[in-house]
Amino acid sequence: MQKLKVFGPKRLKGQIKISGSKNASLPILAATLLSSNKLYLNNLPKVKDIETMINLLKSLGSKIKFEKDKLLIDNSKQKKIFASYNLVKTMRAGILVLGGLLAKFGNAKVSLPGGCAIGTRPIDIHLKALSKLGVKYRISQGYVHASAPKGLVGSKIRFSKISVGATENLIIAASLAKGVTILKNCAVEPEIKDLVKFLNKTGCNLKWISKRSIKIRGVESIKDTIYSVMFDRIEAGTYLIAAAITGGNLKIKNIDPNIINTEINILKKIGAKLIVKKNEINITGNKKVKSVNIKTAPYPGFPTDLQAQMMVLLCKANKKSFIQENIFENRFMHVAELNRMGAQISIKGNKAIIDGNINFASAELMATDLRASVSLILAALTAKGKSIINRIYHLDRGYEDIEKKLKKVGAKIKRFK
Ligand code: UD1
Repeated sequence: MQKLKVFGPKRLKGQIKISGSKNASLPILAATLLSSNKLYLNNLPKVKDIETMINLLKSLGSKIKFEKDKLLIDNSKQKKIFASYNLVKTMRAGILVLGGLLAKFGNAKVSLPGGCAIGTRPIDIHLKALSKLGVKYRISQGYVHASAPKGLVGSKIRFSKISVGATENLIIAASLAKGVTILKNCAVEPEIKDLVKFLNKTGCNLKWISKRSIKIRGVESIKDTIYSVMFDRIEAGTYLIAAAITGGNLKIKNIDPNIINTEINILKKIGAKLIVKKNEINITGNKKVKSVNIKTAPYPGFPTDLQAQMMVLLCKANKKSFIQENIFENRFMHVAELNRMGAQISIKGNKAIIDGNINFASAELMATDLRASVSLILAALTAKGKSIINRIYHLDRGYEDIEKKLKKVGAKIKRFK
């Protein structure tokens, strides 16, 4: 099993080019199932989760290959409707093929994603909403068996809770449903806006009618197109925090800063200096980090996917800070590992109380999920001496070329077996 060695402390300095967004690519890849022809996608990040989704689509009969940096998806022979446990178990986003298969064939058998380290992560909201489009389903032996005997029919649906995945699944399904669907209380993460842009480019008819409502007029089929996926805002946020925590100076390139205003404002409050331009941010970390209190929330609130990284930064603050995790019930697993490095973080329910003025000590560590792994790297970058991070396969699910990018800006980091 691969591990990472990180030698600290290091000030990061230089430029980092941000990759395409994993969380935008996954639903867009799932939505390609709506096509019976060819689609090209650009700017997909080379990470494990994307490889898994491509394998899932191939198992459903899509012919997929890279042509230079573009991914060509040819669905002229795509006919299968069975998404196996082996592929869906490793990545919850596998459930996103359900909407596309139902829209195209009126039938699907898709494995339940099951639990995961950061919480139980049910799909009840997806299923309840799909049933309003005419889907009948039963769950048996770990699979959702779903069918729409009369085809999908548009409807008015209000999600009981904001869910990124459920919003995406329904947007995909409703795009080929008969008539008009109105979805209310949608998640409005930038990745969802990107999915909508992609679908509209294929000739679908989707329109935001208020802040959290979208109107979808179903079309019969979708057209061939070429689409370039948006930048990864979580990767960008992670490297912005890396600059702040190491007192370094980084130019974060290939981004749209308007999309990460919440993160920019918090980093400014903490004392980092940011120069924001059209497609890049120059950030300089300040030796003094000011404490802030943070609550994770659906977009445009502070993203849960940056909570672990921000917690590491707050360990360096001048006094106590608080983080309230409002999205997932069990997303503080990095805390035990950070405390082993000398952090003083205590947990009360969904709140973390973070003492400031911490000097991390190097240690051997265990990564528990994608964002927790990267938070350990951030802490290790500031700790004196050698840290070893185990189970980094989590990291490879979502960060393209992380060692290469960090090395280029001065980190001493090495992968070994
Ligand atoms: C997506 C992101 C993930 C991010 C999360 C929240 C992808 C591939 N993943 O995950 O990185 O952390 O949004 O921004 O884009 N829930 C239910 N029932 C459901 C669906 C969700 O109870 O049917 C709950 C979940 O357990 C969780 C909350 O709703 O507590 C939010 O989940 P959701 O927004 O659906 O997250 P994902 O789409 O899984």
